[in-house]
Amino acid sequence: MFQWEEKYSVGIQSIDNQHKEIFKHLNSLLEAMKQGKAENVTFQIIIDLEKYAVVHFQKEEFFFHRFNFSGSAEHILEHQLFIQKITTLKTDLKSGKTALSFELLNFLKEWIDHHILVADKAYSECFRQNGLK
Ligand SMILES: [Fe+2]
Repeated sequence: MFQWEEKYSVGIQSIDNQHKEIFKHLNSLLEAMKQGKAENVTFQIIIDLEKYAVVHFQKEEFFFHRFNFSGSAEHILEHQLFIQKITTLKTDLKSGKTALSFELLNFLKEWIDHHILVADKAYSECFRQNGLK
């Protein structure tokens, strides 16, 4: 299970809430895959996760530009990597590569962990100095 904990807080409520929502989407996906749900059901969950992640990344990236955040370029690359992995996950699932899909889900879990704890925390101070809370 993907469990949001206080250690993931970036000190900005609206962003924390979106991160919690991403954890929920990942949990739904994990459950669906464990239960061997029909492909179209699992697929829809991935699409929803992807849509939500895109909205969330756009929000962060909007503030990067607005606040002229110095670490913006490498952070945006990380977002792109996540979206690429989601695309691969869709392809794998469509072609019935279940084992690979679990591996990828594990990758996404590691990615989220590291991304929030390192990359997202790195903009926390900049965002807060610019008035976000
Ligand atoms: Fe991010």
